[in-house]
Amino acid sequence: MDRMDPKERMILALDLEHFQEAQKLVKEFKDHVGMFKVGKQLFTHCGTKIIDFIKMNKAKVFLDLKYHDIPNTVSKAGIEAMKLGVDMFNVHASGGFTMMEEARSALQEASKKLVMERPKIIAVTVLTSIDDSELQRLGLPVTAAEWTRKLTLLTKEAGLDGVVASGHDIEMIRSLCGKAFIIVTPGVRIGQAMDNAKDDQKRTITPGEAVRRGATYIVLGRTVLASKNPKETLRQIEEEIGRAAPGQQK
Ligand code: C5P
Repeated sequence: MDRMDPKERMILALDLEHFQEAQKLVKEFKDHVGMFKVGKQLFTHCGTKIIDFIKMNKAKVFLDLKYHDIPNTVSKAGIEAMKLGVDMFNVHASGGFTMMEEARSALQEASKKLVMERPKIIAVTVLTSIDDSELQRLGLPVTAAEWTRKLTLLTKEAGLDGVVASGHDIEMIRSLCGKAFIIVTPGVRIGQAMDNAKDDQKRTITPGEAVRRGATYIVLGRTVLASKNPKETLRQIEEEIGRAAPGQQK
């Protein structure tokens, strides 16, 4: 399996209100990160033109829309994402085994027919905003940790490529699912910013520690965009990842 450049592991979240702002960031950072993440806010605001713009700039896109619907609908949405040139997208594992398996096989088939590369499909197991008491209220008699483990195994069994996971769960998932399974870790904070961070991320981790524990990719949002010098912050993160995983395998 090929090695991964530290930069490739860095996904920059375009959590922005305006298309122009997103365009500016893509142009500025396309050579400094491996992928851009387009989420619900930006996509709802400006639609597919942001995907076109990122692809035009020869950069990669992770479409973070967390599909959760009947198998047919998710499969068709996934095929449209593939046609846009998206490199990776996600679904909610709680949408069920059948949904995940059918989406994967529909995409596989469509990618052959259209001669396009199948995007990586990853699953969100348990949202970081869901804790044990939320699960109880939903009528699920499990802990968040047990539910994460269960949904991770289901994702793997359905043949998806990986999961989104907090820094806390990386090692458990890596040992359950093997080397090739993709683990995308959000909630990444660096040194000082981590101490000062007064935001909504509860389970944070540093870039180096995430990669050391086995994350394939880390999602960088406010820790980069709200820093004084985002380019310098990215450079430091790249260095930190390089120290943590010099030539580590994918
Ligand atoms: O700014 P910050 O680093 O908190 O951004 C994290 C990004 O990762 C956001 O786009 C958020 O939607 C996403 N995310 C997350 N936690 C998850 C899944 C995705 O923070 N469990």
